[in-house]
Amino acid sequence: MNEFKRTLQSSYATIVDRFYEANHHKFLETHFEQFFKVVKPNGIILDVGCGTGRDTAVFKKHNFQTVGLDLTYEMLQKGKLNGVDTPLVQADIEALPIKHGVDGIWASASLLHIPKQKIPTVLDGFYSLLNYEGILYATVKQGLGDEWKEISYKKKAKRFFNYWQTNHWNDALENAGFKILEEWTDTTRTDNWLVRICKKESV
Ligand SMILES: C[S@@+](CC[C@H](N)C(=O)[O-])C[C@H]1O[C@@H](n2cnc3c(N)ncnc32)[C@H](O)[C@@H]1O
Repeated sequence: MNEFKRTLQSSYATIVDRFYEANHHKFLETHFEQFFKVVKPNGIILDVGCGTGRDTAVFKKHNFQTVGLDLTYEMLQKGKLNGVDTPLVQADIEALPIKHGVDGIWASASLLHIPKQKIPTVLDGFYSLLNYEGILYATVKQGLGDEWKEISYKKKAKRFFNYWQTNHWNDALENAGFKILEEWTDTTRTDNWLVRICKKESV
């Protein structure tokens, strides 16, 4: 593993408890509603960069077959210790270990940690993994460029973030063969999130 990923991983390992406290209660209601409208009922969903598995657990509750995948062992372990009862796999979004087709890919606040120049290859990988008319959900932060940033979780831990302008993010998805079904911007105290629900376009 390269230095870039080692740093990200060790930062998440450092902030895992604070991150969990700050985020585990969040329920992305509208996001799930829109996703469930279009994804195959009871299908297979891969939660990429699942963190502590908050959303992975929601998919299981809604009778999907689901696997969570994350780079950071400590994040997955935190999820397991707090009752996430689905397969959670330590793996890299850039080297997906799953070969069989899935019906949905859920990438909540995870693609923002991938260098921008690698995003087209990652999206191509998602496209290949998805079954016919499979659904991709993805959120990134709105803005320009990228940076390593220490966001306070009361401990020093720097993480890499990429930022996207709306049209560039849409282009990246469409260039990878996705049709955008729903798009909106979620505004939180600190960020604007570009939320996209897309369908794999058949060729
Ligand atoms: C901001 S957290 C989001 C977690 C969860 N999806 C959520 O919405 O709460 C980002 C997660 O992405 C993971 N991550 C970062 N780069 C990754 C990579 N290359 N492959 C897999 N996971 C990665 C981190 O370990 C971290 O758990």
